[in-house]
Amino acid sequence: MAFSQEFLDELVARNDILDVVSSYVHLTKKGNNYFGLCPFHNEKTGSFSVSTDKQIYHCFGCKKGGGVINFIMEEENLSFPDAVRFLAKRANMEVPEETEDREASRRRARILELNRAAARFYYENLNAPQGQAVLEYLKKRKISRKTAMNFGLGASLDQWDSLLTAMIAAGYTKGELLAAGLVVQNSKGRLYDKFRNRLMFPVIDVRGDVVAFGGRVLDKSEPKYMNTSETAVYSKRRVLYGLNLAKKTKRPNIILCEGNIDVITLHQAGFDNAVASMGTALTTEQIHLLSRYTKELVLCYDNDGAGKAATEKAIELLRNTEFSVRVLQLPNRMVDGQPVKQDVDDFIKLQGREAFEAILSGSENQVEYQLAAVAGKYDLQNDAQKVEYAKEVSALIARLPDAVEREIYAGRAAAKAGISAEAMQLEVKRSRQKQAGRERSALRQEALNPVRQAQPRERSIHYTDVRSAMAEEGVIRLLLRDESLYPLCGGLAAEEFSSPLLGKIYGALLSCQGEGRCPGINALAPLLTAEEMDHLSGILQKPEDKSRSRQALADYIGIIKDACQARRGDSQVDPLLAAQEKYKTKKGYGGKQHE
Ligand code: CTP
Ligand code: MN
Repeated sequence: MAFSQEFLDELVARNDILDVVSSYVHLTKKGNNYFGLCPFHNEKTGSFSVSTDKQIYHCFGCKKGGGVINFIMEEENLSFPDAVRFLAKRANMEVPEETEDREASRRRARILELNRAAARFYYENLNAPQGQAVLEYLKKRKISRKTAMNFGLGASLDQWDSLLTAMIAAGYTKGELLAAGLVVQNSKGRLYDKFRNRLMFPVIDVRGDVVAFGGRVLDKSEPKYMNTSETAVYSKRRVLYGLNLAKKTKRPNIILCEGNIDVITLHQAGFDNAVASMGTALTTEQIHLLSRYTKELVLCYDNDGAGKAATEKAIELLRNTEFSVRVLQLPNRMVDGQPVKQDVDDFIKLQGREAFEAILSGSENQVEYQLAAVAGKYDLQNDAQKVEYAKEVSALIARLPDAVEREIYAGRAAAKAGISAEAMQLEVKRSRQKQAGRERSALRQEALNPVRQAQPRERSIHYTDVRSAMAEEGVIRLLLRDESLYPLCGGLAAEEFSSPLLGKIYGALLSCQGEGRCPGINALAPLLTAEEMDHLSGILQKPEDKSRSRQALADYIGIIKDACQARRGDSQVDPLLAAQEKYKTKKGYGGKQHE
């Protein structure tokens, strides 16, 4: 594992979490903890807490949390080793010779180097006879040579192993090619190029590293796009296509669109502020990343069902952030009197850049967009429909936190349907009361339903056996609070845990302890993803009676063992164990994380 334990212990000791967090967040003491406004989501009352005795932070609003290293990873958007270096510098400490960590970062550096070499290979193929099909395709899509060069576009060839052969000749190993996701293995163990006969888009992060690739077919075959899966250097939640260029824009905002080609077309037309979250919904990590470069986002998704859904989802996610959000709606194109949907790429190519500039400057803010979408659903000449409209639109306005905004939009929505502003205000007020009532009863429901409450929010961490998982959480909580309890865990194996994540944490704590290291939350930082760390910080928030921790531990172990027995009795081959075995061999306990 990473840096030497003595070094990490000293690093953490010299970077008190309170000091570090205080330089980003204004904190006030309340009871044993410190509270402030969460830097990871926008809020008006502070639900972000720092505990000095546990040396962790946790936000009760957005549920993010972890140790001091995690905080820096999130806040500064750094990998674990880079966050460690950052804190070392802050505390004026020299980073010692890193042993295995150096090995891990050397491997990452090799993958990045390989990706760059592959990008160059694809790019050079554009000049080779076999790359002509892609060159033709670029022409057809009206992408200039200059733009292609700017984005580093290239061609993968119509062969099974051209990249493989070229990269092996250049000194990269098969293992490295697999780790980079550039080649895949068939069931017989043979390696072949993942991307073949495609237009290649290198995905470049804000540091300028080639972290992944997308590849588009040249015809109508499927799948239309292929992307690099997650690797040691690529997490799709944390990257936006085109942001390496868009971050330098002089324009006041960033345009979020759907696809790679949309981004490229926009840049070519002078909108060098366009980015795309390649075929996935916008994530909170991407929003945090964007917040470093702009305070204004323009959503520019396709004008079809999927695009509208993506717009609504993004608005929802951006609702309580500091961003001002506008929605750019592409008009349908009329062909033979029939409306035809078009995406940004079509629009720019058919209507030109001035037309786009015009709708960009006239784009509506998110509230106007949503109001117009509701109005579009009803025939406002019809009285019965007017009533339905008033109900739906008032529910939407009622959700706005600002009273002045509510008044303005209520007036506007009323005028649209020829209703009096007073009647609409009244309707909004009623909606607000109803919503508040619903929220209260939802909270009550939640409090009355311990099983639901216990279930992690992050779906990938779902508990299959909540009772056992609660006990597993308890064991972890106790061990992290009181090191003297380790000897009492002798009989409990990580494999007996029902939750793969909790089993992984427990296993890691045991092995740290076995190596004579201090198994605190910071030792877990390199092993867990950001979501897993958030979840762990939540586990540590739950109360535990310190005076009877030995008894509690024994009880928890009993529950876990019983549940495990019951599961094993259920089936000859324990599916969970099988899954855990698979998980272990796939990722390894010290598996890749985060970046
Ligand atoms: N995408 C993907 N996998 C697919 C389809 C799409 O990852 N099978 C991603 C790509 O990043 C793509 C984006 O989703 O750019 C938007 O998809 P789509 O609208 O279908 O592609 P366009 O960018 O419009 O591509 P084109 O104009 O070349 O058809
Ligand atoms: Mn599209």
